[in-house]
Amino acid sequence: MSNNIVWHQATINKEKRQGKNQHKSVILWFTGLSGSGKSTLANAVDHLLFERHLNSYVLDGDNIRHGLNKGLGFSDEDRKENIRRIGEVAKLFVDAGVITSTAFISPFREDRENVRKMVETGEFVEIYVKCSLEKCEERDPKGLYKKARAGEIPEFTGISSPYEEPVSPELTIETDSISVEEAANHVVKYLEEKGII
Ligand code: ADX
Repeated sequence: MSNNIVWHQATINKEKRQGKNQHKSVILWFTGLSGSGKSTLANAVDHLLFERHLNSYVLDGDNIRHGLNKGLGFSDEDRKENIRRIGEVAKLFVDAGVITSTAFISPFREDRENVRKMVETGEFVEIYVKCSLEKCEERDPKGLYKKARAGEIPEFTGISSPYEEPVSPELTIETDSISVEEAANHVVKYLEEKGII
């Protein structure tokens, strides 16, 4: 990094923005296998928050890979860089006072923990969207598991690339046993209990 770049302190800081919004800002980090329901759940939570006039936004894996992270593939290194960048973007959103949901497989524990370290204690809420590989494969909403089994997609998470389960996530949501609505309410309840909203 250049020595000639100096951090400029913002006049309107995070605390002032949170004060104006009358709620705190955090990262709701949804992690889980492809097809586990991360995007669906993140969007359902976003909907509930929006209805309550809170400031929220969703950063979604497939969408971000069309733009900011276009050009990154699925090797371990590319996934690491994918998550690092999203972590940095999510941190900026938190600074802007926004409750930020991220929906990325984020298969590696270390990468997720690195994002946790980027923000203040309590600002990283890890939500394990838990669903068995069998169920995800049965759902196969994008037909990718079928392709991966046929050997057409290399390094596919759960098939030919690992997924490291969270050790102590703030929340675990088992999407094969509860409805999207129940799951979303569960997340919102957590935000209320922690005094975030
Ligand atoms: S991550 O591992 O780097 O966190 P990310 O969430 O951004 O992954 O992207 C995952 C999405 O990319 C999946 O939902 C799926 O639609 C698509 N995809 C394409 N190739 C792969 C692959 N090899 N492994 C996993 N997902 C893939």
